[in-house]
Amino acid sequence: MNSIFRTKPIESLISETKGKDSLNKALGPLELTMLGVGAIIGTGIFVLTGVAAANYSGPALILSFIVSGLACTFAALCYAEFAAIVPVAGSAYTYSYAALGEFWAWIIGWDLILEYMVAIGAVAVGWSAYATHLFEAVGINLPKVLTSSPLEGGIVNLPAILIILVITCILIIGVKESARTNNIIVAIKLVVIVLFIVLAAGHVKPSNWHPFMPFGFKGVLSGAAIVFFAYIGFDAVSTAAEEVKNPQKDLPKGIVISLIICTLLYIIVSAILTGVVPYLEYKNTAAPVAFALQQIGINWGSALVSVGAICGITSVLLVMMFGQTRIFFAMSRDGLLPKAFGAVHHKFKTPVKSTILVGVITMIIAGFVPIGDLAELTNIGTLAAFIIVSLGIVVLRYRRPDIKRGFKCPFVPVTPFISVIFCAVLIFMLPMVTKIRFVVWFILGVIIYFAYSRKHSTMNNEDSETV
Ligand code: ALA
Repeated sequence: MNSIFRTKPIESLISETKGKDSLNKALGPLELTMLGVGAIIGTGIFVLTGVAAANYSGPALILSFIVSGLACTFAALCYAEFAAIVPVAGSAYTYSYAALGEFWAWIIGWDLILEYMVAIGAVAVGWSAYATHLFEAVGINLPKVLTSSPLEGGIVNLPAILIILVITCILIIGVKESARTNNIIVAIKLVVIVLFIVLAAGHVKPSNWHPFMPFGFKGVLSGAAIVFFAYIGFDAVSTAAEEVKNPQKDLPKGIVISLIICTLLYIIVSAILTGVVPYLEYKNTAAPVAFALQQIGINWGSALVSVGAICGITSVLLVMMFGQTRIFFAMSRDGLLPKAFGAVHHKFKTPVKSTILVGVITMIIAGFVPIGDLAELTNIGTLAAFIIVSLGIVVLRYRRPDIKRGFKCPFVPVTPFISVIFCAVLIFMLPMVTKIRFVVWFILGVIIYFAYSRKHSTMNNEDSETV
């Protein structure tokens, strides 16, 4: 049976997780929520808020965050249902294999590789910028040639490479250790954000909120397409599915609670940011949250926020890299990528080879490629994944009404369709060049599928269901 739309039976997906190549089950609901918050709050809120406020949204930044937050909420409900049905490593990739068939699964896996790789590179360069900034604050000026890529006048972005190296090592050592490290970092990050809110709230001048929409509603939507980056990461919770003790209950909880926490924080932070400083002043800063505190004269708070931002961005990297290695793991276990990357190390119980592969590729991206508009490329990849997952929920309800669903997305098919519309609008608002790059990546994926993956798929040797 060689149909490219063959689907993988859910029962066989689950049974595969119980063999010798299985991952260590160490995560509970608290760890999952922390994993979600760890992946979500980072470069988006600490860096991109300034860009969006100054260039697109103005004080209506809060509306941009609400629009993006809504898109994510509808998609998250779909993710939660899937995660509870198919608690298997690989997230949207695995769900599509069960619901839509191998070709779509491959496309989404290929898409997630783009999303995660580019995001990891972008976030690592953001980390490097904050670290360099902090060094400067204590009088140590790192040479520009070692902190920027060749196209930006440097040789290599060394801090970005080093942080990825450190995180690769943590991930190799093991998931329990990784989750523990993540918990500590996330706690620091949350304290710092709450501190910002407490310190800055009293300095809000409502006059800074006028005019509220200087770039019109189109500006609000363009801003939403940018700050969407700030929400990316809740889907990473579902990539950890196989390492969860009680996935049917805990995965939906982890996804939804982490998204709620972050949405509330973003709405408050964006209102305060545009309230304490006129939005145009964010044009020339890469550290808007620290900058706002500096402008109201709280320098110690500004320094503390910078440290918190570095911690925050570190935990984003940790979860993003974790998610990427699990997607590789799932795709190679299915034969769509070379088998070697699906192997679990006998001592560490982690997919060491795929972790090293992700580490090396992202080090190259982060060290030598100027990121600029890569955040937008990440966004388009993620939005496309959300659309496929949302449609997958509808298809699976129709094709497999019988399966036990630990969590049910409410109002199907309305919720998934609203999710699709929101995501499509945000994709539409992204620059044309981003859309072209995405299409090129998509075509490359189709070529690889027909040249390699289809022939090597483990489904060639198994019974499969075809649509
Ligand atoms: N949501 C993540 C961030 O803001 C990707 O950095």
